[in-house]
This record gives sequence, structure tokens and C-alpha cells, in this order.
Amino acid sequence: MMIPTIPFRRYERVVVLTGAGISVASGLPTFRGPGGLWERPGASGAATVGHFEVDPAGVWALFGDMRRLAARANPNEAHAALAALEAQARARGTSFVVLTQNVDGLHQRAGSREVVEVHGSLFRTKCSSPRCTSLAFAEYEPPREPAPRCTVCSAPLRPDVVLFDEPMPAKPEWDAKRALRDCDLFVAIGTSGTVSPASSFVRSAAYAGARTVLVNLEPMNVPHPDFHEEILGRAEEILPRMVDSDG
Ligand code: APR
Ligand code: ZN
Repeated sequence: MMIPTIPFRRYERVVVLTGAGISVASGLPTFRGPGGLWERPGASGAATVGHFEVDPAGVWALFGDMRRLAARANPNEAHAALAALEAQARARGTSFVVLTQNVDGLHQRAGSREVVEVHGSLFRTKCSSPRCTSLAFAEYEPPREPAPRCTVCSAPLRPDVVLFDEPMPAKPEWDAKRALRDCDLFVAIGTSGTVSPASSFVRSAAYAGARTVLVNLEPMNVPHPDFHEEILGRAEEILPRMVDSDG
């Protein structure tokens, strides 16, 4: 069966949104669906600020496991394809930005440079106090005690990932809006499109007049009206073909 490709070279301002599906070929689980992280009892409940306040060790245990898995994983052909497409765009003097919901750091390790981590990173730690002056993010090391404390204000440290009951941090939100504002091609890859605000990026792109394409293993449970096209299949098989065709 001929899988359609997207002629990336025809577009000047490309925005790609990625989700957990792009890292499946690297051995990392998705959040939803068979074997998804949130299918485990209590897992998604631990990914909240409320839970961190009462059980910081439980939150560290969840994200510590995810970090150990991500640290052992390697970027796959889909990550490599996006890095190659970005390099080709840069050589043409056009823009190519990856907005990733993933916190596994695999896009950067594959060589992508313009990456906006809209949900943070497993590999950074931050102070849980919003008033703290320790703005520098420490490179995350497995905590020596269940809930490490900030050396500046002694509030508990936490993984620098966006938890369910909190907003996206201002800088990635601003970076995402700036990229979406005048994009002409928007491709969402490996995401169920269930979590806001990332799930509404396609609407902003469509409003900007972009061509919008979903590349995913399966159709969205509720088809999003702002996707003009859908290419169903595995990202690690579909994306490398697009690099070749981009030439
Ligand atoms: N290629 C392409 N798509 C795939 C592949 C693959 N090889 N394998 C799975 N998928 C698709 C699944 O069909 C599913 O639609 O990837 C999607 C993964 O969906 P989710 O598990 O919901 O992950 P994601 O969309 O990234 O979740 C968004 O929710 O829980 C929060 O913060 C978390 O960033 C996450 C956000
Ligand atoms: Zn602090």
C-alpha cells in the first residue's frame, strides 16, 4: 500500500507536534491504550501537584522510573527523520520547530535543535516553591532521599515536568504560540490529542492557514475537525520516507 508523503520542502514555516507514539519504537510506553502508563492503577493520580504535596516520594518514584527508562532508550528512525528534515529546512533558510509533549529528551539526542518541551523534561529538577530564587534547573539525579530539598529555600525539589493540575510554563507556551502564529504546515505525530493546550495547537495552525496533517498509528477517538489529512501507521516507518522524498 502506497503511504502518502508530505513535501516538506514546499513549506517555509513548519511546526511538528509530537506525542508518546513517536517514542514507542525506542521502547518507551505510551500513556493511553494497551500497556499505557496511565493504565497502571494510581499512576495518573500521582502525576498531580496535589499528590506531590502529600506524597513527594510517590511522585519521584513514578518519574524516576520514567527517567530511568528514558535514559536507557535511544532515539529511533522517526526522531532521526525529524532531525534530518529540520537540517534540510535550515539549509533552505526556512523554519522547522518541534513542539513535543514528550519529556524523554529523545528529539534533542537525535539532533533536533528547535525543540519546545511543552511538558518539561524528566532530566531536569526544579524547586517546588514558585517564590524560590533557585531558578537554575539542576541536572536531575536520582534523589538520594525520597524527597530531596532545595538548598536555597529548603522546599521539596520536584521533577521539572508539567503535572496534570498545573499550566504549561510561560516560556514554552510563548515559544509554541510564536511558532504556530504563522506556520504553513502543521504535522501532529504519535499523539492521542487528548491533553490541552497541546490538543488545540492544530486549531491555531488551521486558523493561521496551515495545511494540517495527523500521522498516527490509529485515528483519534474523536476526529479533530481541524486536521485536513490523516496518515495512519507507525511514525518510524512513515517519517523516514518523507526525508527521502524531501531530497
Ligand atoms: N507511531 C505513531 N503513533 C503511534 C505509535 C507509532 N509507532 N504507537 C502508538 N501511537 C499512537 C497511539 O495510537 C496514540 O494515539 O500514539 C498515541 C499516544 O497517545 P498518548 O499515550 O495519549 O500520548 P500523548 O498523546 O503524547 O499524551 C499527551 O498526556 O498524560 C499526558 O503529559 C502526558 O504528554 C502526555 C500527554
Ligand atoms: Zn527553593
